[in-house]
Amino acid sequence: MAERKPVIAGNWKMFKTGSEAKSFLAELKGKISGVQGVEVVVAPPFTALAQAAEAIKGSAIGLAAQNLHWEEQGAFTGEIAPAMLKDVGCGYVIIGHSERRQFFGESDESVNRKVKAALKHGLIPIMCVGETLAEREGGKIKEVIERQVRKGLDGLGADANLILAYEPVWAIGTGKTASPEQAEEVHLMIRELLKQTPGPDFSSRTRILYGGSVKADNIKSLMAKPNIDGALVGGAALKADSFSGIIRFKD
Ligand code: 13P
Repeated sequence: MAERKPVIAGNWKMFKTGSEAKSFLAELKGKISGVQGVEVVVAPPFTALAQAAEAIKGSAIGLAAQNLHWEEQGAFTGEIAPAMLKDVGCGYVIIGHSERRQFFGESDESVNRKVKAALKHGLIPIMCVGETLAEREGGKIKEVIERQVRKGLDGLGADANLILAYEPVWAIGTGKTASPEQAEEVHLMIRELLKQTPGPDFSSRTRILYGGSVKADNIKSLMAKPNIDGALVGGAALKADSFSGIIRFKD
């Protein structure tokens, strides 16, 4: 099986100004110095990206945006193109977060266009999937996840470099984490799906992160599962203490 380096990514959502990003990252760098074997990524809002890029210079911390538009440029008021994200220093971009699907009308089709645009520009997509509570209770987990994964990755080559994130909607910001067993069950299902398309090599090397109320005190048990390769963290990624506690899950 391919060695998969764990990823701990912080999704800041609509929190922190540029100067807040700067002081947060200075503190975080101090708290995670010496940590090895973990890929750390932060995803500030667009307006804080430039200051965040400056603050992480010379460190191993990666920079992600929280969204992008699939077009190269043009009359798309309020949108941000892939090349603009590259220009400001991003290496990653979160795509299809459930909040975007829920509140901003994103569909599997738009997610797929965004994933392709990101890859074309050398950005690593962090593509999010996840079921709602109603879907889980209605026995639709497999159907929903399978649709989101298949449509989101439609047309990609087996050499595509991306990260997946499983974020059950009912676990986001609610304090209700999926149990490591519940998460592993879905991660394994995704891993199996990926074996069919894009293919076995893609499946064994692609990191699948868990997201939904991840904290320093539950990360260890999640990371102990064979198909959980990291975490996409919301609330607990906003304080250097709690985020570094998650990054240091091996300590
Ligand atoms: P919380 O960690 O606040 O539940 O958010 C998870 C999330 O949505 C990360 O993208």
